Amino acid sequence: MSDAILEFKKVSKHFAGVRALSDVSFSIRKGEIHSLVGENGAGKSTLMKIVSGFYPRDSYEGAAFIDGQEIRFRTISDAENAGVAIIYQEFALVPKLNVIDNIFLGHEIRTPLGSIDMMAESKRAKELLDMVGLDINPYHSIQELGVGQQQLVEIAKAINRKARLIIFDEPSAALNDKESRQLLDLIRSFKEQGITCVYVSHKLEEVLDVSDRLTVLRDGNTVITEDVKNNAGMNEGRIISYMVGRTIENRFPWIEKKPGETVFEIRDWTVPHPVLSHKNALDRISLSVRRGEIVGLGGLMGAGRTELALSILGLYEKPSSGEIFINGKKERISSPSEAISKGLCYLTEDRKGKGLILMNSIRKNITLASLGQFSRFSRINSFKEERAVQKMVQDLTIKTASIEQDAANLSGGNQQKVVLAKWLIANPKILILDEPTRGIDVGAKFEIYELMNRLTAEGMGILMISSELPELLGVCDRIVIMCEGALSGELGRNNANPELFMKYATGGN
Ligand SMILES: Nc1ncnc2c1ncn2[C@@H]1O[C@H](COP(=O)(O)OP(=O)(O)OP(=O)(O)O)[C@@H](O)[C@H]1O
Ligand SMILES: [Mg+2]
Repeated sequence: MSDAILEFKKVSKHFAGVRALSDVSFSIRKGEIHSLVGENGAGKSTLMKIVSGFYPRDSYEGAAFIDGQEIRFRTISDAENAGVAIIYQEFALVPKLNVIDNIFLGHEIRTPLGSIDMMAESKRAKELLDMVGLDINPYHSIQELGVGQQQLVEIAKAINRKARLIIFDEPSAALNDKESRQLLDLIRSFKEQGITCVYVSHKLEEVLDVSDRLTVLRDGNTVITEDVKNNAGMNEGRIISYMVGRTIENRFPWIEKKPGETVFEIRDWTVPHPVLSHKNALDRISLSVRRGEIVGLGGLMGAGRTELALSILGLYEKPSSGEIFINGKKERISSPSEAISKGLCYLTEDRKGKGLILMNSIRKNITLASLGQFSRFSRINSFKEERAVQKMVQDLTIKTASIEQDAANLSGGNQQKVVLAKWLIANPKILILDEPTRGIDVGAKFEIYELMNRLTAEGMGILMISSELPELLGVCDRIVIMCEGALSGELGRNNANPELFMKYATGGN
C-alpha cells in the first residue's frame, strides 16, 4: 500500500495483567485526517505511544510501519526525527517555565559558540505562535495561561520539529467551544499543508466534522475503519454502536424528582478580581440547591464558574464576601477538608494537577479524603477499606486489573472516574462537580448520569458545572447561567433550550 503513511500489522501490547492491544491492524493514508475513537481504556493512547516512540520496539508484538519502513524507535527523539509529533492527552509542559523555554526545551537553538540563541528562539517562537493563532507574550510562564492556550503552545512546540504526522490525543477535552473550533481549523490547515493528522477524541461531533476516515477500537481490538467524509450513513449513533457494541437509545437518563428543602445556598457572593482593582471576578451571586436536585451551572469559558467553586471552598486567593448556608445553617469554609467535614465535596476540573496522586494506588487515591471512615483507634481496617473501594470500582466501572495499580497507569477517562470515586466515598450531602465527564466516553458518561440520578434520589444535592450544553440540558433539573462573573439567567426543565441558553451566556438580549 503506497498511499499509507502509517500502517499497523497485528500490533499487540500487554501490561501486567492487562491486554491493552490485540492484533491491531489498519492503516492511515498520507495527507488525511484520521480519527481514532473508542471507550476509555480501549487502547487509543497506548497505540499512539508506540508511534511516538514512547514504547520502544521491544515492548510490543507485531509491527508498525511509516512510509513502508518498520518503526524501530527506541526513544521519543527517534520518532521526532522521523517526522512524528504527538500532542498528549495530559499536558507535558513545565508550568513554571516561560512559553519560549517550553517550546525549545531539549531542542534549544544555539549560537555558533554553543550558548542559547535567545534572539533566534524568540523570533522563531513568535512565528510558531502566529501559525497556531496564539496572541500572547512568550515570556509569560505556562501557569499564567488558560488550558486552551497551553494546548496551542503544545502544538507550537510540536510543529517546530517539522512534523509530517501529528497525533492529537484528546486535544480538545479541556477546551471551550470557540477554542475547539479554532483547533479543528488548525488541523484542517495542517492537512492543506500536506501534514497527516490523527485525531483521538470522545467528542463525536468534532470527529464527524473534521475526519476523512475513522477507526474504532474496542477492548484493544480494531472494530472497523470507515469513510466519514463521503459516507452519508455515518453518524454519531453508528460510531457509538461500534464503540460499545450495542446501541444506546437515550444518552441522557433524566428522571422526574421531588426536590426537598434547600441544602446549599450562597447569598450575594462577591469576590474581587485578582488583578483589576475596580472590578469583581464574581459579583453578588445568589443561588441555591435543594435536596434531591441537580442544578447545572453553565456559561462560557471565563464566566467565573470555576472561580465560584474555588471561592466557596476557600481556595481563592482574595477574600470573598457574602454568605454560605448548609442545611439552612450559616457556615464559614476556609479549606476543602473543612468543606468535607460539613458535607460539601468539590470534584476539580483539573484531575492531573489537583485531583489525583499519580504515584499512589487506586485504593489510596480513593480513600485519601475519607480515611476516618475506615479507621478505628488510628488503625485502618483494610478489609473494610478494600470492600468499599471494590464497590466504587464496580459502580463506576473503573477499568483496571487491580485496585493496587498506580493511578498513573490508568487511561485518562478512568483516572477521572477515580477522582469521582474519591469524593463519593466521603458520602457528601452536597456535591459540586466541575466538568465531571470531561474526557469520558459515551458509555461511561451515561453511567455517571445514572449515578447522579441515584445519588439525588438518596437525597444528595448536586451542582454541576459543565461546558457541554447537551449535557446541561439533558441531565439538570434547573440551569443557572453566568456571564462575566454575574448571574445572567436561569432555565427550568420546561423552558430550557440552546438558543435561550446562549442568549443568557453571552449576556445579550
Ligand atoms: N503503563 C501501564 N500499566 C498498566 N496498564 C496500562 C498502562 N497504560 C495503559 N494501561 C492499560 O491499558 C488499557 C488501554 O489504555 P489506554 O490509555 O490506551 O486507553 P485509551 O483508549 O487511551 O482510553 P481513554 O479514552 O480513557 O484515554 C487500559 O486498560 C489501561 O488501564
Ligand atoms: Mg487515552
